[in-house]
Amino acid sequence: MTPVNIHIINQLHIDHATETSRLIAGLRQPNAHIEPKYFYDALGCALYGAICHLDEYYPTRTERAIFQQYRQEITAHIGGGGTLVDLGAGDCAKAQEWLPHIAPARYLAVDIAAPPMAAALARLQPEFPAIEMMGLVTDFSQKLTVPGECLRGSATVFYPGSSIGNFAPPAAIRFLREMRAISAFSNGGLLIGVDAKKETARLGAAYNDALGVTSAFNLNALRHINQVLGCDFNVTDWRHVVFYDEGQGRVEMHLVSTCDQTVTIGGVLREFKAGEKIHTENAYKYHQHEFTALLTAAGFEQIHCWSNDANEFWVFYAK
Ligand code: AVI
Repeated sequence: MTPVNIHIINQLHIDHATETSRLIAGLRQPNAHIEPKYFYDALGCALYGAICHLDEYYPTRTERAIFQQYRQEITAHIGGGGTLVDLGAGDCAKAQEWLPHIAPARYLAVDIAAPPMAAALARLQPEFPAIEMMGLVTDFSQKLTVPGECLRGSATVFYPGSSIGNFAPPAAIRFLREMRAISAFSNGGLLIGVDAKKETARLGAAYNDALGVTSAFNLNALRHINQVLGCDFNVTDWRHVVFYDEGQGRVEMHLVSTCDQTVTIGGVLREFKAGEKIHTENAYKYHQHEFTALLTAAGFEQIHCWSNDANEFWVFYAK
């Protein structure tokens, strides 16, 4: 149960009929695709948590190391007080490391999943009694809006983990604009983690680890969709495939059919030939100047960037 002094606002309105027809339409197309949000059922979230511990998956630990190394400097740019708006807060573990430094008046966790958020806020509250804990349950992948009542003082939007890389650049600019709309009116800013372009082999390994955790994460989308749509994907007839498209600057994840097969999707049979793919995710990688250009296009003017010695990952603070 959520403690009475933690305020959670639920503005999640899932239009199940529209969601279902979009999912079915994507699967029936000749170039079939699934939106990445279908990775994240309970098992998918656990598998993503495991990915973040893999040797090959460098983004999580590299971002953390940059945060640790430059914490004081970044905090000086952010200033204290105000509201820390944590987009895709999950278990709030990443923001937790900032709370003693930024010492916001309010911490606003924003996520689509209410129960883990409520549990995380209840866990944080006794540790940070001076910070007002608040939650906003919403799906910001379509549009990000934060009600005014959720914001107190200047707003710092926190979007770590290079999740911005899962948006195509035009959608990323749109989303960055929405983040700016939240922070700019109160003279706040955006703290965001972005993965850097690097050697193909390194990127490939990060998304195709030796233990097969990312493969399980990708295949689990089919298992999840079987539950959502009542269809009959057999995960053993699909293979996890990853490649880096240098021209587009993105890692692509696909599921490839290992045989000629027929799947019932939304009551209609869909044939997949051996070798046919379902596109499940893009993860865009950026040079520093490329992401700076995206921030500028979204209206940010003062842009600061930190990295590690090998320039493997960027942390931006922008106003
Ligand atoms: C959530 N997101 C930033 C991850 C990424 O790196 O694009 C999702 C992921 N997909 C495979 N491994 C991790």
